[in-house]
This record gives sequence, C-alpha cells and structure tokens, in this order.
Amino acid sequence: IQATLIGLPTDVGASRLGAAMGPDALRVAQLAPALQRLGVAVQDLGNLAGPPNPRGERDAQGMRNLAECLAWNRIAHDTVLQLLQQKRLPILLGGDHTLATGSISAVARHCRATGKRLRVLWLDAHSDCNTPESSPTGNLHGMPVSSLCGRGPKSLAALSGAVPALPASAFCQIGLRSVDGSEKSMIRELGLEVYDMRAIDELGMREVMRRALAGVNGPQNSDVHLHLSFDVDFLDPDIAPGTGTPVRGGPNYREAQLCMEMIADTGRLASLDIVELNPALDLRNQTAELVVDLVQSLFGQSTLMRDAP
Ligand code: ARG
Ligand code: MN
Ligand code: MN
Repeated sequence: IQATLIGLPTDVGASRLGAAMGPDALRVAQLAPALQRLGVAVQDLGNLAGPPNPRGERDAQGMRNLAECLAWNRIAHDTVLQLLQQKRLPILLGGDHTLATGSISAVARHCRATGKRLRVLWLDAHSDCNTPESSPTGNLHGMPVSSLCGRGPKSLAALSGAVPALPASAFCQIGLRSVDGSEKSMIRELGLEVYDMRAIDELGMREVMRRALAGVNGPQNSDVHLHLSFDVDFLDPDIAPGTGTPVRGGPNYREAQLCMEMIADTGRLASLDIVELNPALDLRNQTAELVVDLVQSLFGQSTLMRDAP
C-alpha cells in the first residue's frame, strides 16, 4: 500500500476552534511511522493552505462560513482525486467533518470513472445529515451526508460532478447517539443504513460490523472501493476527550479496535478521513495517540495471523 497524508487544517465547519490543529497532533502522535512499521509506504503532503476561519454568523440560507467551507472542500476534492488517480490511498487529516464532502465527492467521481462500487462507512456519534434549513447551529460539519446525498447546499452537493454524488444506500453509519429531530426524518427519507449505539449494545460490535461489511467481503465484492470516514467523536469521550462535540455512551477501546480490525480484514480499504480531532480539548495528546493506535488496527495490526473472512 502507498498512502498519502493530506493535512487540511481548518475548523470553518464547526462552532469550536481547534480542529485545525488536528493534523499536527496526529503527526506528533507518530502516525506516519506507525503505518510504516506495518509495511505501508507513507508520503506526507504536509498542511495544505486554505482560507482562515472568519467565525461568521448564519447567512440568509442558514449556513456559517459557506464560502470558506466550499474552498476547503474543493482543495480536499482535488487532492484526493489526484491521489486516487495515482493509485495511492489518501488519508485526509482534518480538520472538521465538512471535509468529507470534498473527499467522498472525489472518491465517488473516481468510482464512476473506474466502474468501482463505493461503500462508505461513517463512524460518528452524529448523523451529519442536517440541511441549512433544519440545522440547529448552521455548522456545515453537521451537513456532509445530506450534501453527498444531494440534499445539502447546492455548491457542496455538486462537487463530484453529479447530484447526488452517490446513492444513499452506499452509506453505512455506525455509533450514532446524537441525532437531531429533523435528521431522524432525513435518515428515514434517504433510507440510510444506521447502526446506532443501541444496535451495538444489542447485537454487539462483531455482528454490527459483519452486517456493515456483508457487501464488502468475499471474492464477489472485489470491485468494492471501501471509504472510511472516521469522526473521532465516534469514540467514547472517556477515552477520547479531544473532540469538539463529544457525546457520552460511545464505543469503548475494545469495540473500536474490533471495528477497525474487521475493516482491515476486508482488504478493501481504499481511502480514509480522520476528522474532528481537537488538540485544544485533549489531555496530553491522548486522543491523537488513541487514533494512531486504532489506525494501526485499521491497517492490519493484529495479535495473530488470520485468514481472510
Ligand atoms: N447535529 C449537530 C449540528 O448539526 C452536531 C453536528 C456535529 N457534527 C460533527 N461532525 N461533529 O450542529
Ligand atoms: Mn461527524
Ligand atoms: Mn460527530
């Protein structure tokens, strides 16, 4: 595997400042050497430049910092697309979760061009499917899923060159425990596949991941491009305090590790977002270190040798 780290230091899509420092916290936590130890060849593009955070108010359409969000997402889109065309595995280091609009738009465009089938695993405490009208905050990091499904702000929805960028059925959301009322309706309307914390409690992480990856595993699915969008607030705040919108009751270390290991076992991971890490809220970089630990599992670190599922 040849992976490329892309630092996108911005928090224009969030209320709280600090996610812009996420890429450097992951570097301090030794992300690249950790991947290299697993045999991944790693290139780091460093932090790309984009507009500063104007900390604007909601506009007439209900969004904060739309112009800046769009600019950052164009950078995300263009960079990720170029790397996919070079057959590299892009690892987007956010930055807030709006950036997934750009990265997944690029992945969707690439899959259309190459005839691959796209599966997006969305690990998050939140559903991120608000619209400008429904959002309680106007923060664009709460809208990437609706944008990608063709419901969000037009300019963001159009980034991939097609609206919707991908079918809602390509998404699978895991770990949800904070969903706004209007998002519940949107989940229904789009028919999103969701495993909330209650599903994880009742079924266990193993069964949830078995279901989530049913269309990814096996030789009949060798044409699947698997994208992981990893919002750090997926993790329980007791183990991952360094994030701007923490919600208690998330997956513990062992559940998160099993989740990553089962994704690794598919052998189909082809692009990754790591977002919403906020070092200003962290304790001695422990959340960044935890993320690096989990990313090692995601790239195949395991206790024993195992056969493919
Ligand atoms: N649902 C809330 C909102 O729309 C919170 C979204 C949090 N999103 C995130 N990517 N952390 O503002
Ligand atoms: Mn999110
Ligand atoms: Mn979240």
